[in-house]
Amino acid sequence: MMTTNDIRAAFLDYFAENTHQIVPSSLLVPDNDPTLLFTNAGMVQFKNVFTGQETRPYSRATTAQKVVRAGGKHNDLDNVGYTARHHTFFEMMGNFSFGDYFKDQAITFAWDLITRRFGIPKDKLLVTVFSEDEDAAALWRKIAGLSDDRIIRIPTSDNFWRMGDTGPCGPCSEIFYDHGPSIPGGPPGSPDEDGDRFVEIWNLVFMQFFEDPPGVRTPLPRPSIDTGMGLERFAAVMQGKSDNYDTDTFQALIHASAEVTGQSPDGAFRASHRVVADHLRSTAFLIADGVQLSSDGRGYVLRRIMRRAMRHLHMMGTKTPVFWKLLPALISEMGAAYPELSRAEPLIRETMRDEEERFKAMLERGLGLLSEETGKLSPGGALPGNVAFKLYDTFGFPLDLTQDALRSSGHTVDVPGFDAAMNEQRQRARAAWAGSGDTATETVWFGIRDSVEPTEFRGYTTENAEAEVQAIVAGGSLVQEAPVGTEVSLVLNQTPFYGESGGQAGDQGLITAPGVRVAISDTQKKLGDLIIHTGTVTEGTLKPGMAVRATVDHTRRSAIRAHHSATHLLHESLRRHLGEHVTQKGSLNTPDRLRFDVSQPRPITAEELAQVEADVNARIRENTGVTTRIMAPDEARAEGAMALFGEKYGDEVRVVSMGPADPGKAAWSVELCGGTHVSRTGDIGLFRITSESGVSAGVRRIEAVAGHAAEAASVLTEQRLAQMAAMLKVNAPEAPERLAVILEERRVMEKQISDLQRKLAAGDSAATRAETLAGIPVALRNVGDTPARELKGLAETIGKQIGTGVTALISTSDGKGSVVVHVNPELPEALDAVTLVRLASEALGGKGGGGRRDMAQAGGPDAAKADAALGAIRAGILKALKG
Ligand code: ALA
Repeated sequence: MMTTNDIRAAFLDYFAENTHQIVPSSLLVPDNDPTLLFTNAGMVQFKNVFTGQETRPYSRATTAQKVVRAGGKHNDLDNVGYTARHHTFFEMMGNFSFGDYFKDQAITFAWDLITRRFGIPKDKLLVTVFSEDEDAAALWRKIAGLSDDRIIRIPTSDNFWRMGDTGPCGPCSEIFYDHGPSIPGGPPGSPDEDGDRFVEIWNLVFMQFFEDPPGVRTPLPRPSIDTGMGLERFAAVMQGKSDNYDTDTFQALIHASAEVTGQSPDGAFRASHRVVADHLRSTAFLIADGVQLSSDGRGYVLRRIMRRAMRHLHMMGTKTPVFWKLLPALISEMGAAYPELSRAEPLIRETMRDEEERFKAMLERGLGLLSEETGKLSPGGALPGNVAFKLYDTFGFPLDLTQDALRSSGHTVDVPGFDAAMNEQRQRARAAWAGSGDTATETVWFGIRDSVEPTEFRGYTTENAEAEVQAIVAGGSLVQEAPVGTEVSLVLNQTPFYGESGGQAGDQGLITAPGVRVAISDTQKKLGDLIIHTGTVTEGTLKPGMAVRATVDHTRRSAIRAHHSATHLLHESLRRHLGEHVTQKGSLNTPDRLRFDVSQPRPITAEELAQVEADVNARIRENTGVTTRIMAPDEARAEGAMALFGEKYGDEVRVVSMGPADPGKAAWSVELCGGTHVSRTGDIGLFRITSESGVSAGVRRIEAVAGHAAEAASVLTEQRLAQMAAMLKVNAPEAPERLAVILEERRVMEKQISDLQRKLAAGDSAATRAETLAGIPVALRNVGDTPARELKGLAETIGKQIGTGVTALISTSDGKGSVVVHVNPELPEALDAVTLVRLASEALGGKGGGGRRDMAQAGGPDAAKADAALGAIRAGILKALKG
């Protein structure tokens, strides 16, 4: 039997033999198309090649492409687990011609590969063509020798393929496999075509048009070919199965699911195992390709997929998070073909485990609410929208999870009601937000952008430049003059001021002309390429058209540069110490500090932080030059630049390199960056990490200081240490040891205090439980291992509580008996604590004892006789009172 892995390899090999370039799968997050949620077909990465916008060194290609169809135009999520062939994640095998061959060659390759190389009998195959495409029908007759009854003409969009509402498209021809009459279903185009008997295995798209805007098609420069064969369904055919979930890869995953849940693969939870197996694949691949959990967009689709799988696992009776335990099975099946799975394994594992931990608590309660509410419904009734919304909002149930959960009982959700509840919440949020906006000032910039050129940024090379005032905004509108005292925002034709972007703070400084002075307190970028200086006119009157000199605050900018360059070294060092999964999630560089967020599943240990800090400082001391170059994205990658997930690059990128050359890399750190940097690493001066914390699931935040700020932070730390040492009355180096002693003493004291508190509480209850003996209150207690030295105090306290009475306490710490008797002095003289304590002492095998009439103390070796001793006291009291 050919395994799924064998089939993938054989497909690629076949096309490589036929001079196709084997191109690796692109990421699931398309980097060339903002309209697409996920890569939904093999052709996505070649979209611009079809249109002629992009050229490649080859005109024939073949791929095994990772595809996710969940959310967006092609969405299969709802069917997964319940049908034989739906998946959220699957692999699409394809061959592509970019203006090279067309229909006849595409049909020849496809037919040759499946009938000869893969040996599928011809009589098991039939094809469809778009009804207007007589060409294709004729080619199938000629090349495959198919009779007309096996060439089915389909007039609908089923045989016209489109990637989305816009993009390359064209008529297509699909190859079907007939599983035979034992499986229900009819041929394509027939009323029961949805059955499982006839399965589409390969779609050949004759790519001829480009559609944009929707509905408007223009011919592509050269007709091309795009094909897609679902690997999973083809593997099913090759392995003699009519169900994708019965193929080798899925069976391995289903068995893993059966193992962790203890539920048989084919029993009552058959559908659940399938959902889990499918969702495991999409979860792992999406995380490996950089998708992070979030409450909207791609991250929310990921969350929906994960939570759905988790509900099924929960139904199968799992009490603790188990989804992550299936990851090794997936890696063993698919890790060889997709090494990104192993590379990202820690991130995937931690993301899965954290999410399940978080969701599990809510899941239980949400399901409780759901079953309560379902109980109120009539058969087939719809769950009210506000309940579904509550499940969503309070318990984290994505709508489709609720729908999936209701599926078995035949109930639905009132979706319009759900949408209405969601809308209401959005309105409330929007209303809260609208009050805080500065919309008038924002719109004015759109007008300015139309009348002026983009600002040229000069600040990479200079901090001081002549410029002309292009526009001045004050009080939210364009003005023709700004007298002294006016708060202004202004645009120059060119400027050395850096507008805040990429996390680097905007510059401050001065803009001057003869008799005019504007103090700039902030610089921002607007509408992409306008640099806006904001500040106050402190002298004269500023007017548009004036020639001015713009001077950046050098000290402040130097401090920002030190932090920004330190961030690059920090980033690289984190990757080297923690792994390649570390990518930037957020960055801030100000004159005083830097903040850097990275994807990292677990906290970074103090030891790792120390190594990273030392590493960065070593690079600083090496004092190598920092180079900045503009190059093509490919060149940048060749230099080892970190290409970030999903990032879009233009024709040119700015590459900042620092540190010594390294194997495979032009320098120790190579990053794409638009910010301003030091000229030598030594200019950073010093680097200190000040904190490490969690921001959200899978994201850690490092705060650090560089240069002068680092020096100031170190001095401050020293001062604090000196202050503490002075308070501890030792020299600084001895402070830790002294503190340890104090803390230990404190620990002991805290224990004593809590013991005492306990004893006091015992006293309270003793008081309430005081017995009455011959008309007076008497508290006689064995207080166990209470230290003997505490007995007196305790007896006094209890004595006060019981009033005019007698208290006797025996403690048995260290195997000895110690006894204290307290007699209220207002009682008759006959009652004497010394007499009583002696009686007890005798019982304890001791002699003597002493004290005063109202308080006496004694002891004896025989702690086991404590109760007898208390008995002796009781008898003594009775005797004294009666006698
Ligand atoms: N792009 C075509 C499809 O996805 C091949 O079916």
